[in-house]
Amino acid sequence: MSTVSVDEQAIAEAKDLRDQFQRFLREYEFGMREVETKISILRDEFTHNHAYNPIEHVKSRIKSPDSIVEKVARKGIEPDFDTIRAEITDIAGVRVTCSFVADVYRLFDLLTQQDDVTIRQVKDYIADPKPNGYKSLHTIIEVPVFLSTGPIAVPVEVQFRTIAMDFWASLEHKIHYKFQGQIPGHLVDSLTEAADAASELDVRMERLHREAHGVRPRELAPPRVISV
Ligand code: GTP
Ligand code: MG
Repeated sequence: MSTVSVDEQAIAEAKDLRDQFQRFLREYEFGMREVETKISILRDEFTHNHAYNPIEHVKSRIKSPDSIVEKVARKGIEPDFDTIRAEITDIAGVRVTCSFVADVYRLFDLLTQQDDVTIRQVKDYIADPKPNGYKSLHTIIEVPVFLSTGPIAVPVEVQFRTIAMDFWASLEHKIHYKFQGQIPGHLVDSLTEAADAASELDVRMERLHREAHGVRPRELAPPRVISV
């Protein structure tokens, strides 16, 4: 008899934890939708006003429970909701793939300068690429979400990159996965060369675009310091 009641209690606790986890993830889902809406409005407005769409595509994802658990273990943090909320800032992620490097910075400015957006962190891997050649502009922003219980600030990681950077990153990711992080030396070298070729392509394509549209070619991807 007592075994049955213990099991029932364990099941009730497991259900409660599941509900809490779902509620926790839903906050990030809402924050992600706020950011998606902001980007989609910028895209539509820009397209109408400038007859030009600077965004190629937008991808969003909520980190899976397995990845969250794996990151909690990797970072060695306490597995409670408050600690996870404070320490893991990429539970909601939005990736904005732009046509050109100039568009990456333009979109970053247009999004992060909005009054209700707070910048928590910026990592400019375009100005300062990773040793393997990885390039992208990363930011963690906080956006307000208005729940029935009141407003909350939700962190969302937004990655801005060009099509060429995205092409490279997705191949590198697959190779990284295939070799479980231990990529053979010759492939590392080839990847770094490919990253240089992708950057060169970005410069050429943007120059071509500017020439075709009668815009004076200028120094591309100006080095910039983004202050937070
Ligand atoms: P994480 O613990 O992985 O989140 O790293 P981090 O907190 O140091 O953040 P960072 O800004 O370096 O990277 C965050 C995300 O950028 C990753 O989850 C990937 O989506 C992407 N990223 C970073 N470095 C690389 C890379 O070398 N290759 C690829 N393909 N993606 C990368
Ligand atoms: Mg991450």
